[in-house]
Amino acid sequence: MPFLLGQLRLSSNLFLAPLAGYTNLPFRLIIREIGGAGLCTTDLVNARSLVEKNWKALKFIETRPNDHPLAVQLYGTVPEEMRDAASALESLGVDVVDVNMGCPVRKVCRNGGGSALMGDNDKAAHLVKIMVAAVKIPVTCKMRLGWDDANVTAPDLARAIEDAGAAAITVHGRTRKQGFSGHVNLAGIRAVVQSVRRIPIVGNGDIVTPVAAKTMFEQTGCAAISIGRGAFYNPWIFQHTAHYLTTGELLPEPTFDERLAVMRRHLDLMIEVFGEEHGCRKFRKVALEYAKRFGPISEFNRRVVKLKSRPEFDEIIEAYRMWRRQFLDGDAQLLPHYAPRSLEVASTIPLPQGPNELW
Ligand SMILES: Cc1cc2nc3c(=O)[nH]c(=O)nc-3n(C[C@H](O)[C@H](O)[C@H](O)COP(=O)(O)O)c2cc1C
Repeated sequence: MPFLLGQLRLSSNLFLAPLAGYTNLPFRLIIREIGGAGLCTTDLVNARSLVEKNWKALKFIETRPNDHPLAVQLYGTVPEEMRDAASALESLGVDVVDVNMGCPVRKVCRNGGGSALMGDNDKAAHLVKIMVAAVKIPVTCKMRLGWDDANVTAPDLARAIEDAGAAAITVHGRTRKQGFSGHVNLAGIRAVVQSVRRIPIVGNGDIVTPVAAKTMFEQTGCAAISIGRGAFYNPWIFQHTAHYLTTGELLPEPTFDERLAVMRRHLDLMIEVFGEEHGCRKFRKVALEYAKRFGPISEFNRRVVKLKSRPEFDEIIEAYRMWRRQFLDGDAQLLPHYAPRSLEVASTIPLPQGPNELW
């Protein structure tokens, strides 16, 4: 459904959530090429690093003309730095500035950013106000429900941030203490929807299927949704959700060949943006996500986690195709015993290994 974010007209109310380490330019372009998403967000970027033109921060915001509408997520607590970073982003043509208020990572909380902002409404509101005053583009915020079950501060904070001029607020329906455990608390998101007067609330958390997206809309009353892990597990989720919400029909999953074609394209974009060596290294974990829907996969995973070059990728795919034949029937379909579980029952997605599990 078309969506108005401040003055910005978006083609859809289905957004790509920020995922540090994943929502880089190649991934955003893949999501846009498949279609269905109305707004894509970058990984979070440190405001001071951006103002100081640190090359790593600049790499995070690398974009292309076909990478719009684009939101850049900033974190930081020094209002002047956040303001200057927002102005810099506006002059670079970024469409939306998003403020991270819900990141449970120690490094971000330690100096008062991320979830720490959730304990201090005045400070958070002041930060948003000064940013809103500096730019014409929409300023949005992303938060969790609160610090823990005893401190569910999101409804009050959302109201304060609305008054400060934020154009929308994304709420991940978990507390900081909860990490990624349990399930998203839809009633908690609903309470935030009810607490604000006019700005849209974007519901976030555990949306891995079009049906889960519909449930999020229906049970929270949110105006838009944002999808994180469900998108790197299944980049078709926006297109399929948009179709389901308008027609009630669930599209079939992409075929093995369609997945391979998109995965190849993704690798090509990684190499264009990061160079062959670094791009291949970064692609290893991405390939594992695509592979989750391939059926038996050990032979592919064993090799792709050491991927070093584009020609090697083609070799891995050809060898894997040959190996995979033993699991196919006469119509080149996976024998039922080897087919991956239906997306409908894969309601929880394991978190990626490594430092990402801190998110
Ligand atoms: C690997 C990873 C990286 C994340 N990085 C960010 C980030 O940079 N900024 C942010 O606000 N949230 C970040 N999140 C949280 C997601 O945006 C989202 O709120 C959360 O994963 C719940 O939504 P989901 O169930 O659709 O993934 C991250 C989550 C994961 C799993």
